[in-house]
Amino acid sequence: MRGIILLGAPGSGKGTQAKKLTESLSIPQISTGDMLREAVRNDTGMGRKAKAFMDQGGLVPDEVVIGIVKERLQAKDCEKGFILDGFPRTIPQAQALDRVVKELGKEIGSVLSLEVDEEEIMERLSGRRSCAGCGAMYHVRFNPPKEEGRCDKCVGTLLQRDDDKEETIRTRLVNYKKSTEPLIEYYRGSGKVHAVKASGNIDTIFANITKLLQ
Ligand code: AP5
Ligand code: MG
Repeated sequence: MRGIILLGAPGSGKGTQAKKLTESLSIPQISTGDMLREAVRNDTGMGRKAKAFMDQGGLVPDEVVIGIVKERLQAKDCEKGFILDGFPRTIPQAQALDRVVKELGKEIGSVLSLEVDEEEIMERLSGRRSCAGCGAMYHVRFNPPKEEGRCDKCVGTLLQRDDDKEETIRTRLVNYKKSTEPLIEYYRGSGKVHAVKASGNIDTIFANITKLLQ
């Protein structure tokens, strides 16, 4: 099995769909955002460097994220495939990924571009909550937990992300348009890009993705 890239604006559902794909395909989700947030929580050197960029809604320098992904792709659980969620995000990252994938004898099979309009993104991100314990994702309106503030799966506390403030979301969207959207064109020539309508029911979107991957 090969690698899958999930491209899409902040809040387009990359994390939500990656978790479902991980379960159905038994291949890992590699989320650079989650890995960076973990480094911030653990107060590592990399975490301290990344935090300033993340809090502003900016992108963390390419060499930092490229290093993380290169190391992660060498782990044993990536042998059968992997889901890249939030990487690559710039042309230099995509070029580095091409090199790393080749070096490791792997291949990118599909690039899925999740498409949602901006108004919906604001609504999604301002209501997003995630579990501090297991990382499960919720939304106060669209996907609420059974008990407010508590995870259904592990009873962990549900938290709001520091960068899910209106102003920071706007900066993340600007950076997406400027640096990440051009990747759709970058990959188009390879014939691997599929546009996915990513608004509506989460399970319906997942069913469409599953069909595209077959
Ligand atoms: P990252 O964590 O990747 O954030 P992002 O790209 O802004 O995307 P999000 O995680 O906010 O959204 P998502 O698409 O995963 O949506 P989700 O499924 O959660 O990156 C964070 C930061 O880290 C960056 O700003 C940057 O600083 C740094 N970084 C990370 N990678 C980097 C890289 N490669 N290079 C440089 N810097 C990097 O869904 C959102 C909400 O909507 C949830 O509440 C969910 O329940 C809900 N929802 C999902 N689908 C639906 C639906 N169909 N209908 C209704 N609600 C839905
Ligand atoms: Mg995410």
